[in-house]
Formats: sequence, structure tokens, C-alpha cells
Amino acid sequence: MSHQQQLPTVLVTGGGGYLGSHMVVMLQQAGWHPVVLDNFSNCQPEVFSRIERITGEPVTVVEGDIRDASCLNRLFDSYSFELVVHFAGLKAAGESVQQPLSYYDNNVSGSLQLIQAMAYHQCKRLVFSSSATVYGAAKQMPLTENSPLGAVNPYGQSKLMVEQMLRDTAAADDEWQVALLRYFNPVGAHDSGLIGEDPGGVPNNLLPFVAQVAVGRLPEVQVLGDDYPTPDGTGVRDYIHVMDLVEGHLKAMAVLTPGHGCQAYNLGTGQGYSVLEVVRAFEQACGKPLPTRVVARREGDVAQCFADPGFSQQQLGWRAQRDLAQMVTDHWRWQQQNPQGYSS
Ligand code: WQD
Repeated sequence: MSHQQQLPTVLVTGGGGYLGSHMVVMLQQAGWHPVVLDNFSNCQPEVFSRIERITGEPVTVVEGDIRDASCLNRLFDSYSFELVVHFAGLKAAGESVQQPLSYYDNNVSGSLQLIQAMAYHQCKRLVFSSSATVYGAAKQMPLTENSPLGAVNPYGQSKLMVEQMLRDTAAADDEWQVALLRYFNPVGAHDSGLIGEDPGGVPNNLLPFVAQVAVGRLPEVQVLGDDYPTPDGTGVRDYIHVMDLVEGHLKAMAVLTPGHGCQAYNLGTGQGYSVLEVVRAFEQACGKPLPTRVVARREGDVAQCFADPGFSQQQLGWRAQRDLAQMVTDHWRWQQQNPQGYSS
């Protein structure tokens, strides 16, 4: 029996992705045996070699899709999972407006298949990768877990629907312990520079876009509107380091004990930064000025979105530790060492 096989086992769906890969590193280093299920639709096999270079442990990877019930049943028959951390899903808000059925198929049907397989195999502890987009067009900042819910795109709707499925499942069976982790804006990378965010095509999100300008893959940063009701007119968001996020997942795993039920937690820093503040911070990190151009607002963007992380701090004993300078420094190190991402 290998070293890892003697450790408690956790299923990590989407473990090849940006959040998932950082979670696998964290789990291996925290004494877990993570088993990754990934359909490789949005990751490259190279990521698992990188994880092994960081931790010294090979990654157990099963290629498969959460929508495939027979694959899930084979997996649960092969391992006795203590719990599941569920990242697998599509996550581009803009894309979801063009392809709603694909988002409902992957995110909702896929999660339903997973939850059913978990129930059948008596594995009823789940950490779910949710998103601040479930707060939709909430106006009152900062956002708490009791802020009004409402999605403004099919991606956010799909997260809301899965949250509701889990709330109803836990209400019907008190053996279920579920943490709904609502991420704000994940950025940064492991400080080795070996793993990081590697979006295919032109990035939708600000940080990978800025990083690709800094490394010379894109010509200029497009500031999507500077006429918002914010201090400098550009959008304000709660950026959070990916390592802080995955540490929050570890803390959430620890509270999934009898009586927890289903509970949402905001994983944000509570500090908002504008687009221009992020660009300036990135210029400091990469040591060069970055060309920017103000263009029209993006459909669906809100002026500001940031968390009140008080409940997560109180309930999980967790708070983000890394500041904006650390986020952009780590993001830049990953991009500089991997100009073309994992296919560098
Ligand atoms: C941040 C700010 C833009 C790109 C999205 C998803 C959310 C979550 C995180 C999954 C905004 C501005 C952006 C650019 C810019 N993903 N911007 N130029 O929209 O807050 O959230 O990603 O859970 O669900 O909705 O993130 O990085 O796209 O935008 O000026 O090229 O940067 O207007 O103010 P967003 P973002």
C-alpha cells in the first residue's frame, strides 16, 4: 500500500483547474490523499507534474466527467472518500449568456449526478465551489451571507440552483454537512510559480489579462469603463489570493461535523480595489509601465462588489492573509515563468 493510500481520501472534482490544482497542493501538504476527477476540458495534464514538483507526491488522477453516473459510481466503489471538494464546472459569466444550456448541463446536471452518487455511497460531506455572483445585482456593500440572492447571468443562476439543491438535500437528511463557499475574485498563484491561472484564449478576467500584457502576449490593458460611481471611476472588486482561498477550503472541511447542516461562507478579503489600483500594483510587481486604454463598460458589470468576511472569520477561524502586492507579485512570477501558461 503506497504512502498516500494510508491517508484519509478526499475527492476533488475539477482538480486540474486553477482553484483545484492549488487545492490539491494544499491537501497533499495537509496529510490528505486527494483523488482528482477531471474531464480535462479546461486544464492540461502538465499541471499534475507541476503539483508533484511542489509536493513530491504523485497525484491520483481519474479522467472522467461528473455528468457520467457510471464513472462516478466506479469512483465511489474504488475509494472510501471522507468528503468531496467540488470545483468542476464552467465559470465564464459572459460565455454563459451565449451558452446557457451548456452551463446548466455541466454545472447543474453535473452537480446533481455527483450529489446523487454521494448519497448512494453514503458520502455526505461536501465543500461546494460557489461564487459571489449569486448576489447578482445586490446594491448594498459589503456583502454578507444574508445579502439578497439573485443571479444576473446563467452562470450565477447555475450556482444558485446547486446551492438550493444542497440546501434542500441537507434539510431532508441531517447526515449531510455542506459548506457553500462564495468566492469573490480569485487571483495570484502558488509562490513557486509552477502552477497558476491559465485561461484558454483571450482572458475574460482582469488579472490574467493584465499579466498577459505584462509578458507581451497582449498589447494593452482595456479598462472596461471609467465612469462608475467609484473613487477613480473604474470597477471595484474584492480580489483574494488563491492560496488564501484554498486555506479557507481546508478550514471549511474541518467544520463539516454533525449538526453543521448546509451553510454559506463568503471567501473575500473585505477590501475592494479598483481596476486602476490593480494595474498600478501590477506595474510595481513587474517593474514596467503597462499601456492602458479606457473602453466602454462591459454588459452586466456592476460598479463594486466586495465581501464582509466576518462570518467566515468567526465560524471558520479563517481570514485572508495576503495583500494586493502579494497577489500581483505571485501572479506575475507565474506568468513570467510560464509566458504561454502550461504549454510554455
Ligand atoms: C474585474 C473588474 C471589470 C477585464 C468574474 C465572474 C465571477 C468570478 C470572477 C467565477 C471589473 C474590470 C475586467 C478587463 C477590465 N468568476 N475589467 N478589463 O467580472 O468581477 O467576476 O470573475 O466565479 O463569477 O463574474 O471579474 O476580472 O472579469 O473583472 O477593466 O480586461 O475588472 O469591469 O470591474 P468579475 P473580472
